[in-house]
Amino acid sequence: MRTFFIAGNWKMNLIRESSVSLVRQLMETLTSVSGVDVAVCPPSVYLQEVGNTLRGSSLRLGAQNVSAAAEGAFTGEISCGMLKDVGCQYVILGHSERRTLYGETDAMVNEKLHAVLKAGLIPIVCVGETLAQREAGETQKVVREQCTGSLAGLTGEQMAKTVLAYEPVWAIGTGKTASPAQAEEVHADIRDLLSSQFGAAVANQVVIQYGGSVKADNAAELLGQPNIDGALVGGASLKADSFLAIVHAAAAIRK
Ligand code: PGA
Repeated sequence: MRTFFIAGNWKMNLIRESSVSLVRQLMETLTSVSGVDVAVCPPSVYLQEVGNTLRGSSLRLGAQNVSAAAEGAFTGEISCGMLKDVGCQYVILGHSERRTLYGETDAMVNEKLHAVLKAGLIPIVCVGETLAQREAGETQKVVREQCTGSLAGLTGEQMAKTVLAYEPVWAIGTGKTASPAQAEEVHADIRDLLSSQFGAAVANQVVIQYGGSVKADNAAELLGQPNIDGALVGGASLKADSFLAIVHAAAAIRK
């Protein structure tokens, strides 16, 4: 019913040569993988080059951020139209690093989300609690608030096309992963929330990725949970072997 979706968030890593070389290695192996959608999200300056390299393959291209504005005097920003122009299909929105380091709020994520959907791109909307919030027993409340704020005003049809990524902030880049049970609890709660806001039919179509130190050795267990439909992978997406191991773990489960 839902196709596994594994996306590599390269963040501010790799340069031209290493990007192209990684993509070539991924493409070679992905020809023999079916039933899993796979994307890479390089830094914006390399989108075009990576897009040209992967053209014609099953590997897809995503950006890490976008402006909500269509064009104009927005120094340093990039529009949805520009991302489409260089072959992007996906855009990560509201990653915790953007929320924490660059002050992105749910309202800003929501504005970007509407622009992305209007442009025909697929958003990957990130949510997740900090360690302090988890320890204070606020995980459900925080994640529900982020979902409600970030997804405001969507139609059911738009919601069904939107990818969510649950990424507990304390698990990102730390080597600590939510246990499969901890992750599944939040994923199931997000789906319940979507069901109450958009109806069960829509909620059942929404792909919800898990992110936060996903690696070859924990991917199978996480992806085996009923409400975990893929992974947003940071560190382990920078090397072909470790990223492909996660893709293979997904393919082996065949939901
Ligand atoms: P990580 O990053 O896999 O390095 O923890 C995940 C993310 O930030 O999307």
